Amino acid sequence: MATSNARHDAARRQYEPYLKASWGMKNYWYPALFIHELAVGDTKGVTIAGVPILLRRTAAGVFALRDQCLHRGVTMSVRPKCFSEDTISCWYHGFTYDLASGALKTIIGAPNDPLVGNARLQTYPICELAGIIFVFVGDDNYAPLPDLADDLPVRLPDDYEFRSPHPMDENVVVLGIHRTGNSNWRLAVENGFDPGHQIMHRDAQVILSQNLAFPLGLNPTSPEAITVYGEDGAGPVGIMNEWHSGHYDLVMHNEELDLHPFGTGSVLGLRTSMYLPGVLMVENWPRRGLTQLEWYVPVDGNRHEYWEVILGVCNTEAELKKFKYEYEHLWLPIALHDFNDDDLFAREQMERFYSVDGGVGWDDEQLCGMDAVITGWRKLVSRHNRGIQTPQTHPSPRLR
Ligand code: FES
Ligand SMILES: [Fe+2]
Repeated sequence: MATSNARHDAARRQYEPYLKASWGMKNYWYPALFIHELAVGDTKGVTIAGVPILLRRTAAGVFALRDQCLHRGVTMSVRPKCFSEDTISCWYHGFTYDLASGALKTIIGAPNDPLVGNARLQTYPICELAGIIFVFVGDDNYAPLPDLADDLPVRLPDDYEFRSPHPMDENVVVLGIHRTGNSNWRLAVENGFDPGHQIMHRDAQVILSQNLAFPLGLNPTSPEAITVYGEDGAGPVGIMNEWHSGHYDLVMHNEELDLHPFGTGSVLGLRTSMYLPGVLMVENWPRRGLTQLEWYVPVDGNRHEYWEVILGVCNTEAELKKFKYEYEHLWLPIALHDFNDDDLFAREQMERFYSVDGGVGWDDEQLCGMDAVITGWRKLVSRHNRGIQTPQTHPSPRLR
């Protein structure tokens, strides 16, 4: 056993930074809300990588600032008070902040206080794309601000035979949900593109109803089974399972148990890839011509916000109507729920073993050959992250 432990320790050393990333990575674009969840005049609070963020939409656009009053630290979004178009006031003692700059513009009952004009809350860049509001979470005034495209899956060439929709495509429509999962974000990522967990999905409605021959397992047979993006410092950083490259052994039979996949059909172009800061792309899923994306946004050390969206390209009103119908009656119940409910269940089960600070899982797990892509991901994050978030248990909102 000493040999296996030594091997494990050597591998672990190559992804030590990842093991410290319980609270996620900082200086990345993360999805915060769907656009339809924040109408003009709405204020909502979200927590990303432990940072409380208030989002407010006015006629001028969406603004994001730290959702923690400088005065006594309360969460402002729980009782939003706005007395002018471009400010928000804390509901407790009236500290009033400029939405765009975060500057303390006045204190309602103490307008001459020397703090006025001399303090500010951090603000966060916003970008709206494909029905989603993204917020850049990280260091104050991080520069240069990366393009949102760098934190999305790669956009494959237009002439790629099995190309499925990307969030930057023209006329792309994004339909989906987000919900909170009770596990660390890394367990969610590692479940999302784990090529070894096909057996869990064997009885899924989306598989059975389409008569798919989902392999029992996908085992990489050479380093070329995995393509790594972004090592040169340009564009998204990620890792792709090249299932159709001939460098994966697709296991269709387990002799010992005499098990086969149920179905016989295949999904052409089905492939998974994962990008920093934790966004999954499943091409041609849940059927040929659609793409499923998932984000696993760290909330705190033990929870993630699980985003599941399906992308379709709709060039006409009729196509849009059909896609929405298909989404609502088919993919929402059988893909985003039935199939992905099992994924959420698996992550929450793993959480007990890995339970972040003090959990034994990171030391005691016994990974095997089919987990090569998972250790590849851990090493990639360790080499290329823009910053590891430190635990955010009630830090001061004061800018340093
Ligand atoms: S806590 Fe916000 S003004 Fe006092
Ligand atoms: Fe899964």
